[in-house]
Amino acid sequence: MAIQYIPEPFRIKMVETIKMLTREEREQRIKEAKYNLFNLKGEDCYIDLLTDSGTNAMSAQQWSGVMCGDEAYAGASSYYHLVDTAKEIFDYDFFQPVHQGRAAEKVLLPTFLHKGQFAISNMFFDTTRAHVELAGARAIDCVVKEAKDPSKRCKFKGNMDLEKLEKLILEHGPQNIGLVVMTITNNSAGGQPVSLENMRQVSEICKKYDILLNIDAARYAENAYFVKRDEDACKNMSILEIIRKMFSYADMFTMSAKKDTIVNMGGLIGVKDAEKNAELIMKIKANCISYEGFITYGGLAGRDLETLAIGLKEGLDENYLHYRIGQMEYLASLLDDAGISYQSPVGGHGVFVDAAAMFPQIPYYEFPGQVLAIELYKEAGIRTCDIGSYMLGNDPDTGEQLHADFEFTRLAIPRRVYTQAHLDVIARALIAIKERAKDMKHGYRITWEPPILRHFQASLEPVE
Ligand code: F0G
Repeated sequence: MAIQYIPEPFRIKMVETIKMLTREEREQRIKEAKYNLFNLKGEDCYIDLLTDSGTNAMSAQQWSGVMCGDEAYAGASSYYHLVDTAKEIFDYDFFQPVHQGRAAEKVLLPTFLHKGQFAISNMFFDTTRAHVELAGARAIDCVVKEAKDPSKRCKFKGNMDLEKLEKLILEHGPQNIGLVVMTITNNSAGGQPVSLENMRQVSEICKKYDILLNIDAARYAENAYFVKRDEDACKNMSILEIIRKMFSYADMFTMSAKKDTIVNMGGLIGVKDAEKNAELIMKIKANCISYEGFITYGGLAGRDLETLAIGLKEGLDENYLHYRIGQMEYLASLLDDAGISYQSPVGGHGVFVDAAAMFPQIPYYEFPGQVLAIELYKEAGIRTCDIGSYMLGNDPDTGEQLHADFEFTRLAIPRRVYTQAHLDVIARALIAIKERAKDMKHGYRITWEPPILRHFQASLEPVE
């Protein structure tokens, strides 16, 4: 039985019309897009679940912040508003705004990662992996094994596998491990949360071997909600207390603020201890000035800094987080009723449908996650993306197609954008596809791909 939908803790003041093309038109559009959903025009998508990143609806307070943004090149009041707010939340010494998450990675990672080193994460997001590799190092994923079984319902499937982490450190030599990254929530594993206890233990291991620990903080507030709800020791802590504790275990963070900070553009780097990391901070500032802009705007307009400062606080509101995670749970419960598998329990920012379970006849190198994404577009104009072998790409050393641990189609839900009725449309489309799934004999092959982050740009064709 579908669970009860948690009503929106807001009302709608401004709307945006969306259109529905006919099935014939959608089939034509996706063919013209070379079966890559990133090539579609946004206006040709009825429900756009490509990402929850930068697709959020801002509040009336944030829109008024747009008008109040201070556009001074240096020392804008909006910069100070942002830094003061971030200090209050994270209790770190230094913050550097940048234009988005990958900019934070580009500015920070090359300051200490280099060729011959390794970086280990509970799971790298694709741009983070790319920046580790662009710095010359190699990225290794080390998530708990439960995460690899979508049907296994257990808490904190985003956690680091602690035993494997220590084994990897010893195998490669602690001096060769340039960084450990905790991605919270763990996007690639399905928006799965990381427990505070796991974070503490990872931090202990890093201290023991003198390895830097970074938080990839894109969805840190959703993670804190899960910690409060599901970690017994944290039930009586506030969301803010959980966040402070979580960040106290790390040395620094990179953040795509386009997610939990509920803005359309922005990013942030944080460093906990300014005295100990004076040289690192100097390098961050130098890289920021070269790549992003002067340190008090970091590639953002003053109005962006202002909305970011406001959004940081709005994203921590417990009523909002309850509704937000409630949307995922409602959609997931509709899929439970229909026997459609997904990474369960459902994570924080979307439902990751198990496309390998829906299309067992389609091998990983014909990209089941991409097959389902294309079918969802054809079926109902719903745009999603593959989080599987298609996204993972090729081995950087051998050029061979990698076999991902999962073949997911990600239904990423933008924040404060879609209603219960939209979620019902999504569930009905998935049910219709499931009914004809066995008739799909083949998937897709790549006809052209760029050398890095291929899924954004590659061209595909159906395997006949
Ligand atoms: N880290 C994580 C965990 C992410 O999910 C993302 C982006 C980034 C870093 C990079 O941030 O896009 O601001 O440069 N994730 C988006 C997504 C794109 O759709 O999951 P960015």
